[in-house]
Amino acid sequence: MSVTNPKELAGRAAAELVRDGMRVGLGTGSTVHFTLLRLAERIRAERLRITGVPTSDDTERKARELGIPLVELGSVERLDLTIDGADEIDGRFDMIKGGGGALLREKVVASISAREAIVVGEDKVVERLGVRFKLPVEVVPFAAPVVERALTSLGAKPALRKRADGATFVSDNHNWILDCAFAEGIADAERLDRALKSVPGVVETGLFLGLAHVLFVGCNDGRVVVREK
Ligand code: A5P
Repeated sequence: MSVTNPKELAGRAAAELVRDGMRVGLGTGSTVHFTLLRLAERIRAERLRITGVPTSDDTERKARELGIPLVELGSVERLDLTIDGADEIDGRFDMIKGGGGALLREKVVASISAREAIVVGEDKVVERLGVRFKLPVEVVPFAAPVVERALTSLGAKPALRKRADGATFVSDNHNWILDCAFAEGIADAERLDRALKSVPGVVETGLFLGLAHVLFVGCNDGRVVVREK
């Protein structure tokens, strides 16, 4: 049966980048889930030996269930490759991430990766960031009201992320997330990122700038388009 789910196409294709002996950052989300499934198949079929570093509790649990060997972040200095998803990616490979709330660990893992591969369905490829998807900003709960006002003065419309049951969403790092809407999208991502990070109480932003090296786009017609930066 042929695969027609763009996320599955992209997620599985990127798993072929992994070579024996690699230290691999394991991203978070429904697209990377297919990468994990393919990696588990390869570990069984090819006796592939890899060391994984997960970017979230969710990925850690899935990887353990699939038998993918994991190590703590602290035991590796560099990673050969990280495979992660994105919420939006533009022509410069700049991204918005954090729809699943894993942005902080994802950015830390990306920062020590020699190569960052991004897996998305074609609906995630955009001309301008922030037009369709809100920018997640992880904040210390104590500071949230102060940060909210500061972000509003920077032109954002922040909303505290809630879970489906109405409770406040809490990240793996015990922080909160403000999802920030921008009326016209994000015109200057570098400048916005600097401004957001200068607000006391902001832990990290979902702007991933200059971190991606290769992009796997799963298309609705069944193709996978691979683009190198
Ligand atoms: C997690 O916080 C995000 O950065 C994900 O990588 C992103 O939301 C992609 O998720 P999906 O693959 O589920 O669309």
